[in-house]
Amino acid sequence: ALALTAGATSAQEAEVAPGYTDAALRQAAQDSFDVILPPAPAADGIEAARRELGAMLFFDPRMSSSGLFSCQTCHNVGMGGVDALPTSIGHGWQKGPRNAPTVYNALFNAAQFWDGRAADLAEQAMGPVQAAVEMNNTPEQVVATLNSMDAYREAFVASFPDEAEPVSFANFATAIAEFEETLVTPGADFDRWLAGDADAMTHEQKRGLALFMDSGCSACHSGVNFGGQDYHPFGVVERPGADVLPEGDRGRFAVTATAGDDYVFRAAPLRNVALTPPYFHSGAVWSLEEAVHIMGTSQLGADLGEPEIAAITAFLHSLTGEAPKVEHPVLPPRTAETPQPTP
Ligand code: HEM
Ligand code: HEM
Repeated sequence: ALALTAGATSAQEAEVAPGYTDAALRQAAQDSFDVILPPAPAADGIEAARRELGAMLFFDPRMSSSGLFSCQTCHNVGMGGVDALPTSIGHGWQKGPRNAPTVYNALFNAAQFWDGRAADLAEQAMGPVQAAVEMNNTPEQVVATLNSMDAYREAFVASFPDEAEPVSFANFATAIAEFEETLVTPGADFDRWLAGDADAMTHEQKRGLALFMDSGCSACHSGVNFGGQDYHPFGVVERPGADVLPEGDRGRFAVTATAGDDYVFRAAPLRNVALTPPYFHSGAVWSLEEAVHIMGTSQLGADLGEPEIAAITAFLHSLTGEAPKVEHPVLPPRTAETPQPTP
């Protein structure tokens, strides 16, 4: 019995990463990060109706002028919430300027887009519908399309019962945002470890976590989403080459017109990052190891070695959560009044 006790104690006190026991590493991590909780069930019938309507709108390609592009085209919820392209392809096969970030856990971001130009999910949802390189539609045309189908009109009435004109572009955006609030990924190995399950992460992942915190990554990538909270120059220490950081995209500078915001971007949220190559707003980097190496040189002035990169990458894999189970909604059939697609 004595030997067993001593064994248990030494296991608890054993270093899992240089300078850390498992408990000490957890305590340090709890200061910087939070677990993702499963989405709360809908509070009432209205919220349930909005979530259901939002899912229909998210999946309906008739919200685009061509009838081809839905939110799902570029944020495939069966595929990490992304299109897995360097930069998105939209209306007329046009190539957009930026990589599509995941819609998973987007509600946790302080603001939306790589440059934070939309304050929240509802404001964000009005963008792609109108963007010429994405869905190329107009709010009037979206509302006309929705009004042409009884099932949509009924779903808007059920979702916005107190409003005189429930079918509106603003309500379209609100419903999509409420659906997106259900797209969260709890249960990642990291979350189970943070909540106390010592075996949920491997030793290499724990070493990677220690490096992530001690070498300074967590200064920018912290909180529940490991980022998405504030803005930093891409290239604090050394600006990456134009292949990774194209000169034409000056990031937040376009939002604020402030010299200090030149090439400033939102610290990317790193939840499920292993599912979402290619990386960076340019989508120029396919390998997560390479993305980690670039972050070391560009943001920290650290030329991380192969073992460090491997450990940090292993740790980033522990941030992959359980994908939300989303059922593809049945969409109402078009009527004679439904505007026809324009290629
Ligand atoms: C960004 C949702 C349609 C491509 C985003 C973000 C969200 C989102 C929440 C911000 C995520 C973040 O900042 O972390 C939606 C919804 C859509 C839609 C609800 C339908 C109404 C599309 C389509 C495309 C697309 C059709 C591709 C043609 C992109 C790209 C970005 C983005 C490239 C990043 C743009 C930038 O930062 O400037 N989307 N999206 N999205 N989405 Fe979509
Ligand atoms: C993007 C990891 C340090 C700010 C990223 C991405 C990864 C990553 C994997 C790409 C995410 C994606 O494309 O979805 C790391 C690691 C770090 C580190 C492992 C430590 C070695 C930092 C620091 C800062 C920072 C210290 C702030 C000074 C950013 C920004 C982006 C980003 C602004 C977006 C870049 C863009 O515009 O594409 N980080 N990061 N990171 N990180 Fe880090």
